[in-house]
Amino acid sequence: MKPLSLKRSDFPNGFDFGVASSAYQIEGHAFGSAGETHWDSFAKLPGRVLKQHNGQIACDHYHKYEEDLDHIKAAGFDSYRFSTSWARVIPEGVGAVNSKGLDFYDRLTDAILERDLKPHLTLYHWELPQAIAEKGGWTNREIAGWFGEFVEIIGHKLGDRMASIAPINEPWCVSWLSHALGHHAPGKQDLKLAALSMHNVLLAHGRAVEVLRGQNQTNLGCVCNLEWSHPASQTAQDIEAAKLYDAIYNRFFLEAMFLGEYPEPVLKGIERFLPSSWQKDLSIISAPLDWCGINYYTCKRVAHDASLEWPHVRDEIGPLEKTDMGWEIYPKGLSDFLMWVNQKITKGIPLFVTENGAATSEATEHQKLNDHQRISYIDAHLGAAHQAIKSGVPLKGYYMWSLMDNFEWAFGYDKRFGLIHVDYSTLERRPKASYYAVQTAIA
Ligand code: FCB
Repeated sequence: MKPLSLKRSDFPNGFDFGVASSAYQIEGHAFGSAGETHWDSFAKLPGRVLKQHNGQIACDHYHKYEEDLDHIKAAGFDSYRFSTSWARVIPEGVGAVNSKGLDFYDRLTDAILERDLKPHLTLYHWELPQAIAEKGGWTNREIAGWFGEFVEIIGHKLGDRMASIAPINEPWCVSWLSHALGHHAPGKQDLKLAALSMHNVLLAHGRAVEVLRGQNQTNLGCVCNLEWSHPASQTAQDIEAAKLYDAIYNRFFLEAMFLGEYPEPVLKGIERFLPSSWQKDLSIISAPLDWCGINYYTCKRVAHDASLEWPHVRDEIGPLEKTDMGWEIYPKGLSDFLMWVNQKITKGIPLFVTENGAATSEATEHQKLNDHQRISYIDAHLGAAHQAIKSGVPLKGYYMWSLMDNFEWAFGYDKRFGLIHVDYSTLERRPKASYYAVQTAIA
């Protein structure tokens, strides 16, 4: 098996190699008296999640976390990025705390630290309590306060043991993907709901930072997903469409959090739906952060399509090699984004690649553990990260998605992103070739 081209010693001293996961995707929501989430209810609807899979059992990390952490340690990683489930800790979203849930994260934190791994916490990675969803979820402005109460509890219990904290994973997915495109829970396709959720998810981020600063927590950041936006053709219309897509996807959330403004081309489409206080809220949203995380997977080919509602864009299939998600492999986008974010947005604060990885096919039995495509994907993207460092980007760490195969949202268990294979009938974990390639490189 081909080794990775770069090894730990090619990176600056102290560069942080990590692996990432999220609560609902691995824990098993049926365990430990967790409350219902909007992913449980979404998965019950026909045609929303492949084969109506859900996160009830997932990888049963709830019981197997010690074994999973041993794998992280044995691979030689420095850091583990994980998330806490709001509904596990506060089953009704507000009010009574489920002590079993809080104790689970307490034990998990201790187990991470016992292995001398650094815990990086994301407070919300998408499993909204169903009771909050029923009150309008991310489209209800009050969510900022409700989320703040959850953050208060987690911060108090775990905060001083965390290496870093980010409030919300991928605000674009929480809002646009889930309320304009409808691919994720709650599956809405409504521009007004999308606009409200875009603003509210940022307000909740700001509120969380306020709560955590109030508790004297340190090393607070954010995590955004970015997708390089190519015009599908060189027509003026497609070039404009690609710019608009870029503004909605890549610029909107970062510019709000770091520059305290919304990009003009996006405001044109959504301002009429925003609350009258939106400009005032930007000062809460843009409270200073200590670092910024970027999740990067792919690029898009964007075309103008007048038959569609604003922003009148659709994406087309591009020419590059694809992963099992059908996502093009475009490592240059990672180095270009790191340079752009550093120069235009974050201006010198530490950057992290908080997620990067690939789903690879298991069409043959051999491919289960021999995930050549994942190895070359990681190799190319680690190279791009290295390139950005050489160009002066203060990139401090690179975390792979994901530790093990897991519940890949609308794709259920069929798309596999893990360095470790999970057999869902026995829950047996088996490291793949990529796991060993990474282990050799970062030893
Ligand atoms: C990211 C999500 C993560 C996983 C990967 C493939 O957008 O943060 O949960 O779904 O994509």
